[in-house]
Amino acid sequence: MFNLVLFGPPGSGKGTQSENIVSTYKLQHISTGDLLRDEVSRHTPLGTEAKKYMDQGMLVPDEVVIGMISGKIDDARDARGFIFDGFPRTRPQAEALDKLLEFKNTKIHLVLALDVPEAELTKRLLGRGETSGRSDDNEDIIKKRITEYHSKTQPVANYYNEHGKLETVTGNHSITDTFKMLAKHINKYLLPIK
Ligand code: AP5
Ligand code: MG
Repeated sequence: MFNLVLFGPPGSGKGTQSENIVSTYKLQHISTGDLLRDEVSRHTPLGTEAKKYMDQGMLVPDEVVIGMISGKIDDARDARGFIFDGFPRTRPQAEALDKLLEFKNTKIHLVLALDVPEAELTKRLLGRGETSGRSDDNEDIIKKRITEYHSKTQPVANYYNEHGKLETVTGNHSITDTFKMLAKHINKYLLPIK
């Protein structure tokens, strides 16, 4: 099994690059943002609780997200590996993920962090907001999300760096060129499936 965390601020291209990675390496994609939006659209109790935070650009509480993810890991027993997109977002989430994977006799092998300047992040998120229907489509919420990222999520990079798992990739080249740089790192662990 090969397990990858795709890390980076909002708008850095995690969702976009996950699609390329999933189709090339056949990993099981786990995006907490997608899972939460699905809960919101189905009006589940979890979704109703999460929406309050998401609409304000704040992180959803750890226990909600961790509870949601553990079932998803169980669902995909035969997976070649996982790509975690938008998770873990706090140090407690990173520690919980390590425990969940250890229970399955596996671990996080590699963390790829997309590095993109803040002005470019804002531009991309405003652009996506015009068509996505997502609630994070205005400059105030985008600012809030970036502030949350710096205070709560950035420490996760240090956590993985301490464990020797972090590689940083410049994420403001074209989508294709960025994917090529990510693939160079992944190929050290896993070959593409044609
Ligand atoms: P979530 O959906 O996870 O947001 P995110 O994935 O961090 O951020 P984005 O989806 O905004 O950006 P992205 O990096 O995926 O970029 P994308 O590929 O879309 O989270 C939403 C909310 O849910 C959070 O605010 C929080 O409330 C909650 N939540 C989720 N997970 C949580 C967790 N673990 N703990 C607590 N709360 C959680 O690209 C963005 C745009 O840029 C697109 O339009 C794309 O086409 C464009 N683009 C991408 N790459 C390029 C490129 N190279 N050049 C030009 N444009 C590009
Ligand atoms: Mg995303």
